[in-house]
Amino acid sequence: MLKSHNCGELRENHAGQKVTLAGWVHRRRDHGGKVFIDLRDREGIVQVVFNPQVSQKAYGVAGSLRSEYVIQVTGEVVPRPKGTENRKLATGDIEVIAEVGVILNPSKTPPFYINEDEEVEESVCLKNRYLYLRRPRMKDNLLLRHRAIKFIRDFLDAKGFVEIETPILIKSTPEGARDYLVPSRIHPGKFYALPQSPQQLKQILMVAGFDKYFQIARCFRDEDSRADRQPEFTQLDMEISFIEVKDILQLMEELFTSLVETVKPDMRVLKPFPYLSYKEAMEKYGTDKPDIRFGLELKDISDIATDTRFQVFRSVIDYGGKVKGICVPGCGHYTRHQLDELINLAKSCGAQGLMTMAFTGEAITLDEVKSAAAKYLTPRQLKEIADRFEAKPGDLLLIVADKLEVVNKTLDELRREMASRLNLADADLLAFAFVGDLPFLEWNEAESRWEPMHHAFTAPREEDLPLLDTEPARVYGQHYDVVCNGCELGSGSIRVHNRQLQERIFSLLGYSKEETENRFGGLLEALEYGAPPHGGIAIGLDRLVMLFAGERNIREVIAFPKNQSAVDMMLDSPSYVDKHQLDELNLKLKHDILHSQ
Ligand code: AMO
Repeated sequence: MLKSHNCGELRENHAGQKVTLAGWVHRRRDHGGKVFIDLRDREGIVQVVFNPQVSQKAYGVAGSLRSEYVIQVTGEVVPRPKGTENRKLATGDIEVIAEVGVILNPSKTPPFYINEDEEVEESVCLKNRYLYLRRPRMKDNLLLRHRAIKFIRDFLDAKGFVEIETPILIKSTPEGARDYLVPSRIHPGKFYALPQSPQQLKQILMVAGFDKYFQIARCFRDEDSRADRQPEFTQLDMEISFIEVKDILQLMEELFTSLVETVKPDMRVLKPFPYLSYKEAMEKYGTDKPDIRFGLELKDISDIATDTRFQVFRSVIDYGGKVKGICVPGCGHYTRHQLDELINLAKSCGAQGLMTMAFTGEAITLDEVKSAAAKYLTPRQLKEIADRFEAKPGDLLLIVADKLEVVNKTLDELRREMASRLNLADADLLAFAFVGDLPFLEWNEAESRWEPMHHAFTAPREEDLPLLDTEPARVYGQHYDVVCNGCELGSGSIRVHNRQLQERIFSLLGYSKEETENRFGGLLEALEYGAPPHGGIAIGLDRLVMLFAGERNIREVIAFPKNQSAVDMMLDSPSYVDKHQLDELNLKLKHDILHSQ
């Protein structure tokens, strides 16, 4: 080894030892006739002092050092002089007095500071990923990810789970997104698909008798990127035989709680994890992935609004819409400009507008409420509204009247915006919750057909089976989501394990017999050979680590992510390939693409 110790491991008890370190120049300061180098490696940073009185030669080397040079230093560990200790550094009680300094490799000047956490333009940090990953924050994120995955593996191993890899070249499985396709050279015109998830394979592993499976699984979905979405991402994928919903939720609660205690002890979890029905989540929070770290719950005032003289409310209700709102404590003083910002936010969610009601006075009376709706309300109606929201003088009501979906979407957005403005969400709290009792199907208006709310392999609730053909809208599924701090972390279900029922569901979803056979023939056949009752779940690992790391984008916890347009900017992929590669694959590009190359 070119080093005897890691930079970050040195402490007071190393004082007096001679060490050899190797790492990167994190920072260089020149003063008092000495050069101070913060030397960095994966384990941390240590201060190295180059003093001409100790070694003129080493001091000479230090003079030519620049940020990110790779160097090797040999010297003695000494306690720092009293008063110069650095509490912010784990190694801050000591320093290394350099006797020998060697430049192992110089570095060009990086396009951004490694030693500061200022924001870097996306294209720059993705193109120079190796430099961005040198930043201590990014290094910590990847180490946290490593520790989380290691904990999960050990935890599940102790519970009798087996880790089994499933193939990356599979058959196209519709899970809601487009597939990434891989052309076959051996079978001209045929394609593999990259898995959107190992769903069918893990079910088949249950048929094979593996009982408890997990995998840290790579998944690929050709869908638009967002802060919590990448085209390529990682799931903790699990499947278990002979299991019921409550067992899976219990296992998840135990896993997440002990995971946080071990790898993120500075954060807390809410225990027990609350269970919300889908209906309750939508009513209270307007979303199926609520952030329950704060209140600001939605209240429905449609019953009061319908009796008012306020035409806007009444006509919305006449057309089957709803009037709902949130009460924001202490924001009754909001200026016109601040209110306009909220109105614009509401409009960007598709709402026609936003009715604001500010309780500016000492008491809640019609004279002292600032709102365009006030003149259409009776004192009694005002009181009923204030009571429904449990509003106090000084509060601000944000009310939306529209179709229920628009009302919910808008209030969810406003709720999160106001919580962020008022700093209501405890950053150290991980508020996991389960959302269940979900409808089995949802109606796709544009295509006039039923779609599975989770996926086609989910089992409907036993007692609802008779409704499947007659009233599918009233059927509930045996599926559930895990959410945390407003993020959908994972979902799963009890599966169909019987061929007839699975075929009935495919037919309800509009698949013809041929399509069903062609797409799912393998799974259907497996179900006929003694498939055990089974169920499972998949957790988005990138999202989980993002929440642990306090990041807002999963890119910050992935070593080599793609940009917004699914491009790997460092390797410059996707890229054109040679014509002979296309020929081998029997592929021909469209004329116009060929000419744009
Ligand atoms: P689902 O499609 O809900 O379920 O995915 C499970 C979890 O995977 C994460 N996830 C993503 N993370 C980052 N980028 C993406 N593009 C992305 N898409 C999904 C989310 C999500 O909750 N096979 C089923 C699970 C099952 O039924 O067992 C499935 O994949 O955190």
